Amino acid sequence: MSTTPVLTDVETFAFWERSRQERMAAFKWLRENDPVSWHPPADSLLMDPEDNVNGFWALTKHAHIQEASRSRAFCSSQGIFMEDMPEVVLAAAMSFLAMDPPDHGQMRGIVQTAFGPKQMRTLEGWIRETANEVVAGLRPQGQADLVADLGKALPGLIYSHFIGVTDAEMRDKVVAAADQLGSWNDPKYTEHMEPIMVFANAAEILSDIALELAELRLKEPGDDMLTWLVQAEFEGRKMDDWEIASFFVMLSGASNDTTGHAIVDSIMALESHPEQKAWLFEDFEGRIGSAVEELLRWRCPIVHFRRTAVQDYDIGGKTIKEGDKVVFWYVSGNYDEDVFENPEVLDLSRERNPHLAFGGGGIHFCLGNALGRTLLKAALREVYTQLPDLQLGEATYGFSNLFETMRTLPATWTV
Ligand code: HEM
Repeated sequence: MSTTPVLTDVETFAFWERSRQERMAAFKWLRENDPVSWHPPADSLLMDPEDNVNGFWALTKHAHIQEASRSRAFCSSQGIFMEDMPEVVLAAAMSFLAMDPPDHGQMRGIVQTAFGPKQMRTLEGWIRETANEVVAGLRPQGQADLVADLGKALPGLIYSHFIGVTDAEMRDKVVAAADQLGSWNDPKYTEHMEPIMVFANAAEILSDIALELAELRLKEPGDDMLTWLVQAEFEGRKMDDWEIASFFVMLSGASNDTTGHAIVDSIMALESHPEQKAWLFEDFEGRIGSAVEELLRWRCPIVHFRRTAVQDYDIGGKTIKEGDKVVFWYVSGNYDEDVFENPEVLDLSRERNPHLAFGGGGIHFCLGNALGRTLLKAALREVYTQLPDLQLGEATYGFSNLFETMRTLPATWTV
């Protein structure tokens, strides 16, 4: 074992303020030298210091993340983020993402038909058209901030429609609250609000909208997720108001930011790899499938999720004790040299690409993966068809250990 050449203090805020290059070097070191590593309690703005006492295991190898994601030895109901969070807040906002069997299966069962292949095929044409319209709307301006004007605007339109938010003012509120939900460490929000309130306030705004709309959909059914939620049953079980609100909050967070980051990070990746971009555009329809998988591997939108051990478990030569927290670093697993040849190389033609962007498999595997992929493809198709000479300016970044957080990405093109 070599001596530590890099700082691997992933539990600190300082780690997440370092450059991406430094962070990725730290994960590489951990994969090679201490793949199941123990860390002190994570820096937290959410918990009182005297209650913030739980250290955690960091899994950085692809195989370990997959193994633990699929194992019943780990649960989600005690928290899904590296930082602990008051349980009531978690329950109000994270729905079945933070549930275990059998509750998880019941809740997921109620909604999963709405994400099935038939529904996705129906939505695909409409997603393409909407992406076309959004980019066409930007085109005459000759410039935009791609984070706000595309990465937030397009998923905001698509998912609001999917969920059942049709009013433009309400949609803007949902998109803003979804952004706020995962940003309790971001000074942009904490300048004005207690960190726990950043999260709780966003959850409250989204819950109120969900309940208002659910009531409306009971009287006036539509062709959307909320109508589905108030009507659907699984094994004789329906969602109550509290469960509908919590699901709506989780879905708003799970869909908007993830896809928004995937879109802007992919454009950034293509612009900084012109030879890869050229390869893709020689046969866009034939190659976009593998390209999207590689773009999601390369800049995985969700940095980590967490579980808690419900029994002792041996992995990577270490024994995780019942009650220990375990953090899955997807960003690290996606660069694991044992799985990906030359992982630091963006290779859109990569044939085998079992990346972890949608999780490591198992019961929580991303329910919206088909929708996310479809939207990412549609956005790239429209951007490069309608804005072929796009030029990027300097991006600015926020601070988060949960999402890749580009805050602004100026772009210009010829009108
Ligand atoms: C590129 C976009 C996306 C990425 C990278 C992403 C990533 C993830 C990840 C990592 C998980 C957790 C997996 C685990 O714990 O094993 C997850 C769960 C989930 N995602 Fe996504 N997601 C994306 C888009 C979406 C969209 C568009 C929706 C819905 C409209 C969605 C809905 C969900 C739901 C409902 C869960 C919880 C599943 C469960 O607990 O059973 N996601 N996603």
